[in-house]
Amino acid sequence: MKGLIPVGLVVAILFSVQIVLSFERPPMSSVQQGFRGTGMVETYNPREAEELAEINQPPESFGPLEPGGDKASDVYENVQVLGHLSDDEFIGLMALITEWVSPEEGCAYCHNEDNLASDEVYAKGVARRMIEMTWNVNANWTDHVKDTGVTCYTCHRGQPQPQYAWYSETGPAQQTGGFSQSRNNQNVATEVAAYSSLPYDALDRLLAAEGEIRVQPRNGLPIFGQTGSSIQDTEVTYSLMMYMSESLGVNCTFCHNSRAFYKWDESAPQRVRAWHGIQMVRNLNQEYVVPLKPVIPEEHLGVSGDIAKVGCNTCHQGINKPLYGAKMLPDALPLSGPPQ
Ligand code: HEC
Ligand code: HEC
Ligand code: HEC
Ligand code: HEC
Repeated sequence: MKGLIPVGLVVAILFSVQIVLSFERPPMSSVQQGFRGTGMVETYNPREAEELAEINQPPESFGPLEPGGDKASDVYENVQVLGHLSDDEFIGLMALITEWVSPEEGCAYCHNEDNLASDEVYAKGVARRMIEMTWNVNANWTDHVKDTGVTCYTCHRGQPQPQYAWYSETGPAQQTGGFSQSRNNQNVATEVAAYSSLPYDALDRLLAAEGEIRVQPRNGLPIFGQTGSSIQDTEVTYSLMMYMSESLGVNCTFCHNSRAFYKWDESAPQRVRAWHGIQMVRNLNQEYVVPLKPVIPEEHLGVSGDIAKVGCNTCHQGINKPLYGAKMLPDALPLSGPPQ
């Protein structure tokens, strides 16, 4: 009997310590986002904000690319997308791309250095498509990126493989108990689902495909022959919302008034911006990234053999505006859109 008390005490102490450790150390500061009394407030931890600020600075500027020399299509042999640039802009852009994507490997990441015109290195073909993808974002998705736009650096940050692109989660192997033990792609701690019990395939269903993002049914009562929002739709919606909040480093009230999550006219303008973001990400994955899979070397693919895809975090990396809204395009105008 005597021995039991200390054991209970030790367990209680360990338990309390664990709870205390799971809190964030103060101080916290908050910024009001909406009308007073609506609870639309962002809370920040200044210590963490400082760490984020350190790693999310734009790279050194080399100034705008100056036109000069003959047309690239007259100077070079195999220029399929950048032929309209002047020679100086073309070479300047090559140098920038190298800084942003493969500073360590240099030109050789994309080129056979004995024959720059050759397409034998797969990364060159990928980069050509990436240039077109960047044009697409900057020219067609201004409802999301405004005139800030993006460059290769927004996603790549000096690495050939963007750190915050995502692969499909496979989860643990399915148990053999049949339907009764089916996990339904949830109840596994994964980063995408913010370590909650929510489904881990939300990004596959909602950012690579056109799944329904909906909780509130369209009709008050079920109508014969029409399906409402299923529990599955609901769970996958919340999972995506967790991912979006984590990606931007904000909480739900950055976009929603929590008294009515579904209501657009009570939501913050950022929600509309996010809606365009969702459409943009689907477009980038479907039209550009996923079709590149066959040329990507196997060791760059995920465990289920899929290519790393674009998500909110690929650009945002924990900040509501990537790189705090730094405008890098003026130094790389040829990336702002396709030739007119
Ligand atoms: C991330 C990939 C990438 C890197 C790194 C890169 N390039 Fe390129 N380079 C390309 C692509 C893509 C093209 C083809 C552009 C087109 O089709 O319009 C190209 C074409 C060229 C050409 C034209 C060759 C010809 O005759 O057709 C030259 C010259 C060139 N690059 C020089 C360089 C130099 C010098 C470096 C290093 C400072 C470099 N590149 C780094 C992707 C890259
Ligand atoms: C919206 C985000 C985004 C932007 C902007 C972007 N990329 Fe990418 N890039 C990706 C993703 C996602 C992949 C696929 C990841 C992989 O291959 O692992 C990729 C792959 C690549 C690869 C092949 C990497 C490998 O597997 O070896 C190259 C090279 C590349 N990008 C170059 C560029 C260049 C050059 C630019 C700018 C003109 C650019 N990217 C702009 C997201 C982006
Ligand atoms: C960056 C903005 C943003 C953040 C942050 C955000 N949401 Fe959303 N939310 C949206 C958008 C945009 C939609 C609508 C998507 C659509 O209709 O395609 C949406 C839809 C929803 C819906 C479905 C409403 C309906 O019509 O049924 C719910 C519920 C929801 N969000 C809850 C949350 C919760 C909970 C959080 C925090 C964990 C959150 N959201 C964080 C932008 C955001
Ligand atoms: C290709 C890069 C890229 C991707 C991917 C991306 N965004 Fe953005 N987003 C931006 C840029 C750039 C801005 C800043 C534009 C500006 O200066 O106003 C921005 C701004 C926003 C804003 C406005 C923030 C504010 O403070 O007003 C929201 C909200 C947002 N993004 C949500 C999302 C969501 C949600 C996703 C994923 C579904 C997403 N973004 C994916 C590049 C991206």
